Amino acid sequence: MPFPYERMRRLRSCEGVRRMVRETSLSPEDFVLPLFVVPGKGRREPVQSMPGVWRTSPEIALELAQEAHELGVPAVLLFGVPDHKDEQASAALDPDGVVPRTIAVLRRRLSELVVIADVCLCAYTDHGHCGVVRDGVVENDETLELLEEMALNFADAGADVIAPSDMMDGRVAAIRDALDEEGMDDVLVMSYSAKYASAFYGPFREAACSAPSFGDRRTYQMDPPNLREAMREIELDIEEGADIVMVKPALAYLDVVRAARQRFDHPIAAYSVSGEYAMVKAAAAAGWLDERACALELLTGIKRAGADIIITYWATEAARWLREG
Ligand code: PBG
Repeated sequence: MPFPYERMRRLRSCEGVRRMVRETSLSPEDFVLPLFVVPGKGRREPVQSMPGVWRTSPEIALELAQEAHELGVPAVLLFGVPDHKDEQASAALDPDGVVPRTIAVLRRRLSELVVIADVCLCAYTDHGHCGVVRDGVVENDETLELLEEMALNFADAGADVIAPSDMMDGRVAAIRDALDEEGMDDVLVMSYSAKYASAFYGPFREAACSAPSFGDRRTYQMDPPNLREAMREIELDIEEGADIVMVKPALAYLDVVRAARQRFDHPIAAYSVSGEYAMVKAAAAAGWLDERACALELLTGIKRAGADIIITYWATEAARWLREG
C-alpha cells in the first residue's frame, strides 16, 4: 500500500480518465420503447400519470417508433388498448385488432425494427384480470388456450417477438408449441419470467385501462420479497423454450437481475416500469431533481446489474441524451 494511502481519486481526475476506466456503458441499442396503441386514426391521448407517453392510433405509433428507431433504438413493445372489452378478451383474437394493424404498419414502413407484442388478457377483459375468471378465480389452464390464440394472431400479423406478461403457469411452453405447430419457429418468445405483484404498475394501468375491477394480481404475479422463487420461474421459462427472460420491475429488483445474470446465460431483459418513470417525472416537474441525470443513472444501474435489454419509457429521450453526450 503506497504511503500514506491509496490515491483512488487519480482514477476520477478528469473526464478523459473517467471515460477510460468506465465499467458500464449505456447505448440506445440497449433500449426497447413501449407503445400503447388504440384503434382508429389521428388519436394521440396523453397519459396523465406518464408525461411524454401517449395512447396513439397505429399511424402515430409509427411516427413514435420511427423517431426512436432513427436514434438507434432497435425495438418497440406493443400494448393494445381496445375500445371493446369483454369476459373472453375477444378483441385480443381479432386479426383486424389494433395490435395486428399496428404490426402491419410498422412491418411495412420500418423493416429493420424489431416488433415485440405483449401477450396478456388484462387490457382486453372487462374485469381487468390477466386470465379467464371463473367464480372469482383466475383459471390457469383455460387462460393458456386464449394466450396461444392471441400469440398466433400477433405472430401471424408479423410480430418478431411474443412477450407473455400474464404469469400463468405453462404459458411459455403453450405459446412455443403453438408457434412451432404453425411453422412460426423463427418467432422469439421473450417471457416476463420474474414479474412481481408491484405497486409500481399504477400509471401503466391508467395508460392501458387495465386495472383489475376486483381483487388484485397476487395469486399470479410474484410476491415481492422472493428471490429464489424468481430463479425457479426463470429456469422453468428457459426449459419451456423462452429465448429471452425478463425481470420486472427493474429498480426495486436489481438484486434479482444480478442473480439471474450470474445464474443464466440467456439474454436478460429488465423492465423499468411506469411507476419508476412517473416518480422521476413528478419530482423533476416539482423542480426537486434533474430528470436527465436521474434517468440516465437509473438506466445505467439496470445495465450494471446485468440486464442486456432495458424496456423503458425513456427510450427515445435517453437515446437522444446519449447522442448529445
Ligand atoms: C400486463 C402488464 C402490466 C405491465 C406490463 N404488462 C401491468 C400489470 O401487470 O398490471 C406493467 C408495465 C408498467 O408498469 O410499465 N399484465
